[in-house]
Amino acid sequence: MRSRASETTTAQPKNSRIIAVSSGKGGVGKTNISINLALAYARLGKRVIVLDADLGLANVNVILGVIPRYNLYHLIRQQKTMRDILLDTDYGIQIVAGASGFSKIANLSEEERQGFIHELYELSQADVIIIDTAAGVSNNVLTFVAAADDVIIVTTPEPTAITDAYGIVKIIATEIDNLELGLKLVINRVKTVTEARKVAERVINIAGQFLNLKLDYLGFVYEDALVQTAVVKQKPFMALDPKSKASICIDHIVRRLENMDFKEGGGISKFLRKLFGP
Ligand SMILES: Nc1ncnc2c1ncn2[C@@H]1O[C@H](COP(=O)(O)OP(=O)(O)O)[C@@H](O)[C@H]1O
Ligand SMILES: [Mg+2]
Repeated sequence: MRSRASETTTAQPKNSRIIAVSSGKGGVGKTNISINLALAYARLGKRVIVLDADLGLANVNVILGVIPRYNLYHLIRQQKTMRDILLDTDYGIQIVAGASGFSKIANLSEEERQGFIHELYELSQADVIIIDTAAGVSNNVLTFVAAADDVIIVTTPEPTAITDAYGIVKIIATEIDNLELGLKLVINRVKTVTEARKVAERVINIAGQFLNLKLDYLGFVYEDALVQTAVVKQKPFMALDPKSKASICIDHIVRRLENMDFKEGGGISKFLRKLFGP
């Protein structure tokens, strides 16, 4: 597959909006939400890249039905460049495939780190970079979360998922010293608007009360059988049916994100600074 990045090598870094998608518990819908948010953004004419930063269970490519020859592993090991590993898809978005079972970024050698920083600049041609992180809190997840403009915490109405969502919010609040970080909540797999609102209020109230932390309620995604069908077909649900219950919810979320304050002047340079220090 040919990478579009190869045509714009001399482009100056611009202000990419970096959105990290995280959760406390696994299996709550992060990867599906990341990919379909990307599709919705692409439909607005934005250039979008999804970075699969789940270095344990990388599966962005699986859900899109693409088999990457190379992934982040080859990039970090300096066997390939970002241009080599950036993949075009049939859906108007590009992806950087993850490296299943790969160890923490913190464990890179200095040389690997520098190489990685250099290669990440290649992503700055995107308007939006969506980072699909692993569940729970590893150094890895925290690093990506700390570097993002927006962090979307995904939970389902399940009590265990809610507890774990609160857990990750708490750790983010204590570990990350970034006042600009916009923490946002998405409730996935809900049956009604009211159910979503109640779950969101619970998490937001506890975070406000015990952590003195402001969380924005970004929206919800309905439980929709199309999501499972899409996973089995290895096609994003937004592509299978842009008017399905789940797809319409994703459109709403993108609209809200677009209406929310996004501080210009950060972009990929700020991301790299935060990721790797000055
Ligand atoms: N809105 C939804 N409606 C129905 N099923 C869903 C929905 N969101 C997620 N799922 C189911 O949950 C599974 C896990 O989703 P995934 O995006 O892989 O989660 P994560 O990335 O958080 O591990 C999907 O394969 C799908 O079967
Ligand atoms: Mg996932």
